Amino acid sequence: MTTAEAIDRYTVADIEAMDYNQIIGLVRETNRPPGGSRSISKIAQEAFLRPESRVLEVGTSTGFTAIELARLVGCHISAIDINPLSCEEARTRGELFGVSSKIDFSLQDATCTNFEAASFDLVFCGNVTSLIANREKALQEYIRVLKDNGFVAAIPMYYVKEPAAALLDRVSSAIKVNVVPLRKPYWVEFFERPPLQLYWSEDYLFDHITDDVIDRFVESILARKHLLSLRPDAQQVLSRVYRDFMCLFRDNLSHMGYTLLMLRKEHVPIDRELFVSRRAGLA
Ligand SMILES: C[S@@+](CC[C@H](N)C(=O)[O-])C[C@H]1O[C@@H](n2cnc3c(N)ncnc32)[C@H](O)[C@@H]1O
Repeated sequence: MTTAEAIDRYTVADIEAMDYNQIIGLVRETNRPPGGSRSISKIAQEAFLRPESRVLEVGTSTGFTAIELARLVGCHISAIDINPLSCEEARTRGELFGVSSKIDFSLQDATCTNFEAASFDLVFCGNVTSLIANREKALQEYIRVLKDNGFVAAIPMYYVKEPAAALLDRVSSAIKVNVVPLRKPYWVEFFERPPLQLYWSEDYLFDHITDDVIDRFVESILARKHLLSLRPDAQQVLSRVYRDFMCLFRDNLSHMGYTLLMLRKEHVPIDRELFVSRRAGLA
């Protein structure tokens, strides 16, 4: 990530020119999968992870999921990302949490890894697949490295309400990805293909986050020690730019939901469950 020595060189213009990914690098925001720790602990339980289990985490960013799995289960995790700065920060965080011996962070592309076939009990890909241009190839790679009876855990985010074109444009330009407003059925169909069979799923909507909560969050991030050496004018602009990003994402997420999808690699095809059910509400 950004070294302390370089930070005092950032000008107002430098910060105004940054997209969200660059801002994350600067402020060292913790990148989580949708649903954060709750999604991770649920998936760890539903995948029956044990200390002997081997997990591949795709698009680890600064390592939140890998570190959380190592702390919860003590299993072995190979965590990959294409961003060298994120990998470096992930290693540092792994050391801080005392779980480095459980995690191998490596710089690899999800579409073409160097892992042997059938090496993992769980491939955890969070919402990362939506950011990969050749997502078909990525999914084939998840399947290749997964053991028979192993699980793919995906947490796709999708639109539940039609977003305005202007909102999509602003989000696309913030994250430098051309955001296409996909819906849940697209993702279920994408992942549920032989030999992957849907094992379990759960839908979620994002909570509404108020301006006050965003303000307090931005304040706490800007108070980080490594940012204190920013020039005062650059600090002020960073606070405004970062807050604008958070408000933009809050407005975008108010149109979105996500699903925890657990798919199992079935080497013996079985027929679909016909009489599906849902939990009854309290009377
Ligand atoms: C939104 S962030 C992390 C998301 C979070 N770990 C999750 O589970 O949803 C997405 C990460 O995916 C990484 N990424 C994007 N394309 C990738 C690829 N082809 N292979 C591996 N990582 C990739 C990015 O560098 C970024 O760190």
